[in-house]
Amino acid sequence: MNKNTIEIPAELKVAAKEAYLKAYAPYSKFHVGAAALTTSGTIVQGCNVENASYGLTVCAERNCISHAVIKGEQSFQMIVIYTEQEKMTPPCGACRQVIAEFFEQSAPVVAFNHKDKQQVWSVAELLPDAFTPKYLLDI
Ligand code: THU
Repeated sequence: MNKNTIEIPAELKVAAKEAYLKAYAPYSKFHVGAAALTTSGTIVQGCNVENASYGLTVCAERNCISHAVIKGEQSFQMIVIYTEQEKMTPPCGACRQVIAEFFEQSAPVVAFNHKDKQQVWSVAELLPDAFTPKYLLDI
């Protein structure tokens, strides 16, 4: 994966922005939208969903992946994360682990914002030496 040449489909960014608008973040007021492109070419969305019991909050990225799994999708090309923050928002540690479960180590994880500022990481950069299914399954 070459970060400078990677093509991010415009529809994927639109989907992440649309998901952002659905975020339920009354406590942090930090709204996040995510959209993943599956290997089969479909787009699945997620937003963060907070809870009055704060620790039960689920991030946009994990909701996005769970949403995909419910739709029968378990294999992905890339995930994009949208915020309206000046600083690019990388996935939290828990989300990195869940991304590593379903994405290739070389898959791009893209953060972008309302100014179309963007940062790209590979899954391996975000979580080197990840504990992945290969350690538990015969694959
Ligand atoms: N959040 C995400 O949705 N994704 C991340 O990767 C970082 C954090 C959410 C969780 C919480 O609702 C808010 O951002 C502030 O932490």
